[in-house]
Amino acid sequence: MAGVRNERRGGNVDAASLVLLAASHALLLPILAPAAAAADLAHGKRVFQTCRSCHVVDSDANRFGPTLKGVVGRKAASIAGFSYSQAMTEAGAAGLVWDEAALSEFLYSPKRKVPGTAMRFWGLWSQSEIDDVIAYLKANP
Ligand code: HEC
Repeated sequence: MAGVRNERRGGNVDAASLVLLAASHALLLPILAPAAAAADLAHGKRVFQTCRSCHVVDSDANRFGPTLKGVVGRKAASIAGFSYSQAMTEAGAAGLVWDEAALSEFLYSPKRKVPGTAMRFWGLWSQSEIDDVIAYLKANP
């Protein structure tokens, strides 16, 4: 009968180096949480300068674009007497409401949010511009 060989090889895990790696990552955790930025109305008003060539916010007058007075919470394409594009009319009929999330997406990229929109505007690039101009619109109900 052949003898049974019973060699064992010891494991060779270097646990110490793993522990050091984990510890160094813990130090990278952010120490300073950014202060919740309050919407900046003055900045929002400045951003609105880029909308003013086509929109007013302080009266019911339509210009090249529809009035934005009270637009936050308004159904899309709901200003009677403004001639919306077919795309915007259909978006409104499909239930699009300009809440803050929808406005944020539209202002980031009008033609991505409403393909075929007549709003010739490239979009705002920074989230603070978007947030602050929405705060400014909200302040003009
Ligand atoms: C070059 C002109 C132009 C500029 C600049 C412009 N818009 Fe418009 N906007 C329009 C037109 C035209 C429409 C109608 C779009 C359609 O019918 O498809 C519109 C529609 C809108 C709507 C939908 C309104 C509704 O009643 O459904 C919102 C909201 C809006 N614009 C916000 C803005 C904001 C905020 C800015 C500035 C950041 C801006 N727009 C800049 C022309 C413009």
